[in-house]
Amino acid sequence: MPLWSLLSTQVWGPGSVLLILVFLLRLSVQLWHKTQLWDLQHCPTDLTGKTAVVTGANSGIGKVVSQELARRGARVVLACRSRERGQRALAEIQAASKDASLLLGEVDLSSMASIRSFARWLLQECPEIHLLVNNAAVCGIPRTLTPEGLDLTFATNYVGPFLLTNLLQGALQRAGSARVINVSSSWQTQGYFDEEHLTGAGGPLTFNQNYFCSKLLLTSITGEFARRLQGTGVTVNSVEPGVVYTEIMRMLPLYYRFSFWISSFFIKDPTQGANPVLYLSLAKELDGISGKYFSRSCVIIPPAKAAQDPQVAQRLWNASVKLTNLDKVD
Ligand SMILES: NC(=O)c1ccc[n+]([C@@H]2O[C@H](COP(=O)([O-])OP(=O)(O)OC[C@H]3O[C@@H](n4cnc5c(N)ncnc54)[C@H](OP(=O)(O)O)[C@@H]3O)[C@@H](O)[C@H]2O)c1
Repeated sequence: MPLWSLLSTQVWGPGSVLLILVFLLRLSVQLWHKTQLWDLQHCPTDLTGKTAVVTGANSGIGKVVSQELARRGARVVLACRSRERGQRALAEIQAASKDASLLLGEVDLSSMASIRSFARWLLQECPEIHLLVNNAAVCGIPRTLTPEGLDLTFATNYVGPFLLTNLLQGALQRAGSARVINVSSSWQTQGYFDEEHLTGAGGPLTFNQNYFCSKLLLTSITGEFARRLQGTGVTVNSVEPGVVYTEIMRMLPLYYRFSFWISSFFIKDPTQGANPVLYLSLAKELDGISGKYFSRSCVIIPPAKAAQDPQVAQRLWNASVKLTNLDKVD
């Protein structure tokens, strides 16, 4: 059929033109995402003999990160709250790389008791830890108190990583050289400081602002950890993965989940979302870099103003130590 008659057939109605435009738009957005990604394939870092711990390793970004670390020879501890979901992820990663050395650990990061018991088990299994990726988080949960009297979102997204990092500090230092990566969010800029939020009190929070504030606290404490661990061989940085189509929105109202699903056509997939986290985990040029906030394009950028203030971070540190009883001997 000649080209002119093909172009004049009914197939080329407004629907098909729209479809082609959407397809082209998706293609250009995906190509743009690719240009923003760090070149993982050309990173030669080998992790044989190293131990990595990834929280929330059973889905989304955490699963992709765990798989890549295991592929590079690390012994990876998948720290998951559900044994069943953890085991499923472990089997998937094992199937993808037969030699992967994986260990499943159960931890509910919203529970300080669970974190303490996980840390005790982990320190016996792995006396040295070279990489800790504080990745697990929840989003879209209205104010809910945990049995320990913490707000669930702040407990999971901030108190959990704070306590876990402190409890694993010895093992991180024993490794000689270690990295801690806190997975934050660009939404941290929309949060504000109020340590009362940790216990479900404090200033008012509009829709999903508990998530934004919890990420702001995590970003702020990253700097304080870095200051305190200076000279120990342990670096601590935070990173925003960008907007990634994962299960993170599952607690949000239907309208948001639907919009997220529609946008899934254009936003990053978990492999692309894991890229900045893997950059912080693997890139040799980051040796010794600590206390920084990295953008989704793997560039150091300033976080929210409040997260840059060492006095605020110090106050947050003190409140968190008290809350988690780290000032008391076990
Ligand atoms: N996706 C995005 O657009 C985006 C944007 C900015 C930042 N981030 C950050 O990226 C990180 C990974 O999120 P994701 O997008 O990959 O979402 P995801 O697929 O929902 O992964 C979150 C993980 O956290 C785990 N988790 C939640 N609560 C937990 C708890 N109490 N104890 C232990 N584990 C818990 C989940 O386990 P279950 O399966 O058991 O629930 C899941 O494995 C998060 O820190 C998130 O804030 C994501």
